[in-house]
Amino acid sequence: MSLFRTKPIADLVPDGEHLGTGLKRSLGPWQLTALGVGAIIGAGLFSTVGSAAAGGGEHVGAGPALIISFVLTAVACGFAALCYAEFAAMVPVAGSAYTYAYATLGELMAWIIGWDLIIEYAIGNVAVAISWSGYFQQLLRGFGVHLPNWLGTDFRSAAQATEKIAKAGGVCTAELGDTVCRAADAYAHAPHLGPVRVIFNLPAFLVVMAITYVLIRGIRESAWLNSLMVVLKLAIIVFFLVVGAFYVKPANWTPFAPNGWSGISAGAAVIFFAYIGFDAVSTAAEETKDPQKNMPIGMLASLGVCTVIYILVALVLTGLLPYKELGTAEPLATAFAALGMNWTAGIISAGAVLATTSVLVVFQLGQPRIFFSMARDGLLPPFAAKVHPKYQTPHITTILTGLFVGIFAGFANIDEIVDLCNIGTLFAFVLVALGIIILRRTDPSRVRPFKTPWVPFVPLAAIASCTYLMLQLPRTTWVRFVVWLAIGLVFYFAYGYRKSKLRHPAPTEV
Ligand code: ALA
Repeated sequence: MSLFRTKPIADLVPDGEHLGTGLKRSLGPWQLTALGVGAIIGAGLFSTVGSAAAGGGEHVGAGPALIISFVLTAVACGFAALCYAEFAAMVPVAGSAYTYAYATLGELMAWIIGWDLIIEYAIGNVAVAISWSGYFQQLLRGFGVHLPNWLGTDFRSAAQATEKIAKAGGVCTAELGDTVCRAADAYAHAPHLGPVRVIFNLPAFLVVMAITYVLIRGIRESAWLNSLMVVLKLAIIVFFLVVGAFYVKPANWTPFAPNGWSGISAGAAVIFFAYIGFDAVSTAAEETKDPQKNMPIGMLASLGVCTVIYILVALVLTGLLPYKELGTAEPLATAFAALGMNWTAGIISAGAVLATTSVLVVFQLGQPRIFFSMARDGLLPPFAAKVHPKYQTPHITTILTGLFVGIFAGFANIDEIVDLCNIGTLFAFVLVALGIIILRRTDPSRVRPFKTPWVPFVPLAAIASCTYLMLQLPRTTWVRFVVWLAIGLVFYFAYGYRKSKLRHPAPTEV
């Protein structure tokens, strides 16, 4: 039964004090909401929205009915947020869902969630870095700087673009879009290393390295910087909405749902990526004033703000161009560029670079702290819990996360990565909701400063809606996900199971 050992909640809270990052309780409801919005609005809104509307990879597009997809996903996330909020208020320590699972579902489940969160944070950031790179290159081009195409994309996109052009008769037309033409050029002109074409997304790699460097040095009191970025990105989105509203052609909204319900639900599963991040607010629980009250406010308010923004953007975007033309990596800029408004496209690109940078920072910051919690519990080797003597940051895990994300971002294809990130995150949400139901039974008298309403209805609704979204994702994504979990289990039984501190308490802790 030791697989299901739970870590007493009372033990969790003092552990947080040893984090060593000098965590001070300084964040209030506004900063938390800003943190949430900072983590949420990024590649999802600026990139994924295009393939969700137009279709791409193994998905059919939602078309203008993407608005409905956004509402559906917001409802699923709302249920999950209500569950996260109960945990975050009750266990206000770093580590997020991993920590909650340890207290409720037992060590094995905690490990599975911790391992799964790597998909949300690190793999998610791979997608965000790729989106950052797309908009950054767009911005550079605005200034007349052109990177060689083979240094600005990934092999898969390049090969797919070449195939698309071949099917279209061998000529890259405006209809196929600039992104496709550039990716095909990368394929044609990449240098060779032996038989291998060298195609590498250099900006995506470099931005992750730069952020890693900054995070090692410590950006502790960065709440104001985050708030500034959030204000700027909101301003640019408002700019998009206001300028875009003048160019909307209602004719573009018909057909409204070209692929019917299957398009809408596939769109919902893809666009889920845009909502990921409200749960990252919970990783700041140790730095929050009155977390019992402010954690739920921060999560739900940021989710609400983003939902409204997303619906408005979807409305304007699908009104600007026929939905089929939105399937690029930079759809918001594409829409304006196609209308000949290059300067507007430039401003949007700058906004997207900012937005994705703030998401990158939140997740690159969050991942090492989850590793940190896992190492503190003995489930990962002790080096992962080391704190830099001078900068007081978990530098080793920060470097490892940076290398993993950066290198992956250099080679990966954004659509596949988004699907994988979504399935992993949805699974974490399911487990968190399950944890709420279980803990209400096993520990009914525990003080719950914030209570998920209508238990078990809300957690069950979270489980059902998130599972539904998971089922919309392609088979290959499921296979990758299961393989990832299997590798995690091998690790657990080879290491964590034997070294767990819960199993072998250190003498001082007895
Ligand atoms: N929600 C985050 C984004 O869209 C992950 O970039």
